[in-house]
Amino acid sequence: MEIKTAIYAAILTGSLAFLTYFGSSCGSSKDLPTPEKQTLREAVFPFGGAISPEFLKNDTQYRELAAREFSSITAEYVMKMTAISRGKDVYDFAAADEIIDFARKNKMRVHGHTLVWYRETPEWLKNYTGTREDFIMLLEKYIKAVAGHFKGKVVSWDVVNEALLDDGSIRIEENIWYQKIGLEYIEIAFRAAHKADPDALLFYNEYGQEYSKVKSDAVNKLMDELIEKRVPIHGIGLQMHTNANINDLQLKQAVRDAGAKGLKVHISELDVQTNMENNSDYVFTEESALKQKEVYRWATEAMMELPANQRFGITFWGVTDQYSWRWLYEGIPDKVLPFSEKYEHKPGYKGILEGLKEK
Ligand code: XIL
Repeated sequence: MEIKTAIYAAILTGSLAFLTYFGSSCGSSKDLPTPEKQTLREAVFPFGGAISPEFLKNDTQYRELAAREFSSITAEYVMKMTAISRGKDVYDFAAADEIIDFARKNKMRVHGHTLVWYRETPEWLKNYTGTREDFIMLLEKYIKAVAGHFKGKVVSWDVVNEALLDDGSIRIEENIWYQKIGLEYIEIAFRAAHKADPDALLFYNEYGQEYSKVKSDAVNKLMDELIEKRVPIHGIGLQMHTNANINDLQLKQAVRDAGAKGLKVHISELDVQTNMENNSDYVFTEESALKQKEVYRWATEAMMELPANQRFGITFWGVTDQYSWRWLYEGIPDKVLPFSEKYEHKPGYKGILEGLKEK
């Protein structure tokens, strides 16, 4: 064989060997992570779910799905004032500590929900009488006790939840904190949380930004005012209890606007309703699932479009359709989460994986 031909043959053989070796180890189809093998714990930002200790205790599949998919968890109920406060200066952290324990065992972040909310306040508080100063002291003392108890175990808090109405005005009706203290309750809460745990990231949490620019602008204006007053605040939560009719551009703009001033952004309670008329005989169809998949993809893409240091993460409001609050709490037949009542990936999960792909 001529020298020249021999050299060409060696190069060709070598390159074929090179391709064979690196081609296979660089992920032939058999090695690429598939949706079944991949979990959201490998995503570039944290995914999580709202967790209830009762299901952790009683449902192995619930526990396993949460451990497999989530790198962050939020207490759906047991860190709320109504669950912790047993009376003035009387606290019961037992159920909430089960969430902390599960997170520790599974190396998960815990996001605290929520220190101050107009809903689900304990009976004793509704009957409490006192001056404005008494209520300020009560609020500060409660936050000091709770954020202090979880210091070093909860990395972030929804300090104030749902302080605004859909028209952007401050929530007054049913809001004991506004009625007894005034608008200042918001900054008092953030300052008290920061004093109790200076390392915790402090969020304002709200719903409806994706479907109401008026509300979205009001939230962002409130943030500007708090920052102006040098109130310690680090992030905005968009609950995003949204639905299949949401407009993708509006959803993405709401997330973009929330991040415009550099605050961290948390899509904090994501679920996607498809039963738009709340029909009691509603059937979740393949078409519902595919529409829902789009919305899960848009929410994921919206988070991906933020600067990496502002992507606090996406938390689904629940783990499985079987225990979703829409069904259990509001009695509306719907399947709003990316995990079915059989703990399987729904098309929405695939939509999330598609949304994670770098564009
Ligand atoms: C809901 C929980 O899912 C229920 O378990 C509870 O009984 C009522 O509250 N916005 C919020 C959440 O910020 O705290 C609410 O969670 C859902 C609406």
